[in-house]
Amino acid sequence: MKKIISGKVRDVYEVSDKSLVIVTTDRLSAFDVILPTPISGKGVVLNKLSLFWFDYTRDLVPNHVISAEPADLPSLFRAAEFDGRTVLVKKLKMLPYEFVIRGYMFGSMWDTYKTEKSFCGYTFDREYKQAEKLDTPILTPSAKNSEGHDENISVARLQSELGAELTEKIRAVAVALYNRCYDYALQRGIIIADTKFELGFDEDGALVLADEIFTPDSSRFWDAGEYTIGASPKSYDKQFVRDWLTANGQKGVTPAPEIPAEVARKTSEIYADCLKKITEVI
Ligand SMILES: Nc1ncnc2c1ncn2[C@@H]1O[C@H](COP(=O)(O)OP(=O)(O)OP(=O)(O)O)[C@@H](O)[C@H]1O
Ligand SMILES: [Mg+2]
Repeated sequence: MKKIISGKVRDVYEVSDKSLVIVTTDRLSAFDVILPTPISGKGVVLNKLSLFWFDYTRDLVPNHVISAEPADLPSLFRAAEFDGRTVLVKKLKMLPYEFVIRGYMFGSMWDTYKTEKSFCGYTFDREYKQAEKLDTPILTPSAKNSEGHDENISVARLQSELGAELTEKIRAVAVALYNRCYDYALQRGIIIADTKFELGFDEDGALVLADEIFTPDSSRFWDAGEYTIGASPKSYDKQFVRDWLTANGQKGVTPAPEIPAEVARKTSEIYADCLKKITEVI
């Protein structure tokens, strides 16, 4: 079977012209560099979280999942190494954008807003502090370009490229997805500060939600118990790794060094805890 994409975290195989297999590996990238040390179980957590949210939001928008049952996968993927981290999906004609929804003033939006008071074409009705919750979540799209560096664009540019009607449909779906999952996660002690979606069209021309959704790799997850306005909340997932790299003068260094087993173990635990917090029956 042909591996068509080996992304930072996921390997994508082409099963037919209609379907793909996505395998979420244990690779972790920090400061945009992939570590040589795998984070045990991370891929399983990301895959299971996405599957949970796809199911939880299926009434809002159709998604690309066909099946995650081993029996439905091509035989190659029925081995233990693929267990829990592999999904059969509809192959879509992807839109070359990341549809970012932001609920909080943070990250690259904060960096730009601080000096320019605007971001992606938005001017705001009032002043915001770092990490403050926005009065309403906003779509701040980015265009995926071939060099792998995404470019923030305005909604006006999206409208000119996709048309006003499709842009509004995507905005409404993305905000509805964010609001529903934000409320759910908050009840379980996690703030989803922002997130991104990828969408595509199926063979009937229907708009379908793809990729991964509401994972710590595609979203900013904050611990609701530690959140304060005006400070930089710790990233829920990679903080140990980032702290270790920074303390050891390895921030953003390529190739990244092996990280100590203890740091990898603690990071695995954080991912496992995240899955438990979101999916455990309470
Ligand atoms: N249903 C689908 N049909 C076609 N392509 C898909 C589908 N779902 C996800 N993809 C693509 O599969 C790839 C997943 O790999 P991964 O997320 O590891 O890549 P990445 O390094 O993050 O790069 P990217 O910036 O393209 O996301 C992405 O390029 C994504 O756009
Ligand atoms: Mg990706």
